[in-house]
Amino acid sequence: MKNIDWKNLSFGYVKTDYNVRCYYRNGEWGKIETSSSEHIPMHMAATCLHYGQEAFEGMKAYRGKDGQVRLFRWEENCKRLERSAEAIMMQPVPMEIFRDACFKVIALNKDYIPPYGTGGSLYIRPLLIGTGAKVGVSPADEYLFIIFVTPVGPYFKEGFKPVKMQLARDYDRAAPLGTGHVKVGGNYAASLRAGVRAHKEGYAATIFADAKTKQYIDEAGPANFFGIKNGKYITPDSHTILPSITNMSLRELAKDVGLVVENRNIPIEELATFEEAGACGTAAVISPIEVIHDRETGKVYQISKNGEPGPWSQKLYNYLTGIQFGEVEDKFNWCTVVPC
Ligand code: PLP
Ligand code: COI
Repeated sequence: MKNIDWKNLSFGYVKTDYNVRCYYRNGEWGKIETSSSEHIPMHMAATCLHYGQEAFEGMKAYRGKDGQVRLFRWEENCKRLERSAEAIMMQPVPMEIFRDACFKVIALNKDYIPPYGTGGSLYIRPLLIGTGAKVGVSPADEYLFIIFVTPVGPYFKEGFKPVKMQLARDYDRAAPLGTGHVKVGGNYAASLRAGVRAHKEGYAATIFADAKTKQYIDEAGPANFFGIKNGKYITPDSHTILPSITNMSLRELAKDVGLVVENRNIPIEELATFEEAGACGTAAVISPIEVIHDRETGKVYQISKNGEPGPWSQKLYNYLTGIQFGEVEDKFNWCTVVPC
């Protein structure tokens, strides 16, 4: 076990001992290699550097109550990486390579998995990049799949405390028929200006309006949005948001605790009617929303009245994290125990 201040981890980079790499060359994937270097030597004309051939994933492994290490729904992340690869014409990573690489990098860095009870987890960051050299705009012939890990605490410094969000219409993170539904770096580059401005103006993140009509709630920074009212869990149905695996899981859990799930457009004015709202994702877990300020109209949507998470959000958070930390029966079979 490493000498790390586990209880005060933020969502940042902490160097670990190893990462794993696998190269696609001459039409085939090679063997998974172990590296202790934090650097990637690459050709200056690699397509990831010029033409954005880059996709990534985010997962977490949790040290459970029983001491076992659980990886949450890795198959879904693998499938999503495949969809991202297809969307920008990269070579998809075979499922066995994805799985073996995850297990290997977790086991190699097991001393960096935060102990049970600290609230921390091991963040797993798979990355797929075009490394082949091209000058004309075309897909690379060579790819690198790499996974590094880093121990993390909460994404928003507030943790499981309601945050302030800013609704913006003057920037889009993704175009209506673009790449918002996959996890490619370009979406994040496009979200930076709005995100940095939101931070400067005192908000945790930007909530984007849908790029086409600007009438509906779209993505909530690096997470999906959900609202709760009248016994319903409501979350946007949009081609420009990333299909969140956390949200997919919360929809199941919401049904299980008796909420009705609606996956539909959410008009911005409907924000005034929610009893609870939150942002959800691997990094964000559930981040309850206290208030949303509409930057353009000046409207204030006060959601949490007492600065505390609402009862449904609390219930869903306990249920989800309970499964992840092995405190609650994993009846959906979402966790894989990692041998380490
Ligand atoms: N939306 C965006 C833009 C994200 O970056 C993420 C994080 O992966 C999510 C939503 C949440 O997805 P997931 O729950 O699969 O982590
Ligand atoms: C995640 O939740 O895994 C993310 O990728 C969000 C963000 C850190 C980009």
